Amino acid sequence: MKIIQLTDTHLMAPGVLAYGMNPETQLRAAIQDIMARHADADLLVMTGDLCNHGDPEAYALLQDILSPVPCPVRLLLGNHDDRPNFIAAFPDHPRDENGFIQGFQDTDFGRLIFLDTHAAGVVGGVFGPDRMAFLDHALNTAGALPPTIFVHHPPVADGLRHFRDIGLHDEGRMVARLAAHPAGIRHIVFGHIHIPLAGTSPEGIAFSSGQACSHRFVADIDAATPDWASGNPTYRVIMVDTLGFRAFSAEIGQDVLARSQLCVGP
Ligand SMILES: [Fe+2]
Repeated sequence: MKIIQLTDTHLMAPGVLAYGMNPETQLRAAIQDIMARHADADLLVMTGDLCNHGDPEAYALLQDILSPVPCPVRLLLGNHDDRPNFIAAFPDHPRDENGFIQGFQDTDFGRLIFLDTHAAGVVGGVFGPDRMAFLDHALNTAGALPPTIFVHHPPVADGLRHFRDIGLHDEGRMVARLAAHPAGIRHIVFGHIHIPLAGTSPEGIAFSSGQACSHRFVADIDAATPDWASGNPTYRVIMVDTLGFRAFSAEIGQDVLARSQLCVGP
């Protein structure tokens, strides 16, 4: 199964820049590249901060940009999003019984679970008992294969000073629940931190984030106020199959130097 992950696209109203970058042109370039190189993708997942201010104009722009995508699209909310405006723009997008943008999808390689950690006015993430009940249900009915989790806020400690106080405000409940799942967890996929990160939690759960498609940070781990940086549009190609889980980072606009030679071993 091939899943494309886009994260932290931070769309603005048409023509409006974010940190001097144009998130619309970044995302349009990414979608064009995805459609050209990965027409066989089974799913496109956007792991939150879809829009920078959560305004209707930006969600309308997102609708327009995504309209040619041939595969199913799963959208997650981040702290910058706005749930009512999102639902107004995407009324048919799956929601749980409490109205959170949560759901799951069963595949031959385990269940994919999509979680909603957005709370209006909170920069960090929120995952209270009502949302946890959904996760409980999703895990309890997931079957024997390890599920893969998609969520905006990292439910694990990322160790980045800038994000120290704006992570998932749940005292570790989500990751503890995941760690208790008998089948294990294949991987936690998240966004929020705007830089690529791969790691393993103390419980032994593998996790990783994608690079933001729009503005991103210089990877200064200990800086409280790291610099924002520009860069090429990026996305990840995630393979979930008989080999397990792999996430490949893709960058658009690289300078091609030469065609490589065939390597035949040993
Ligand atoms: Fe973001």
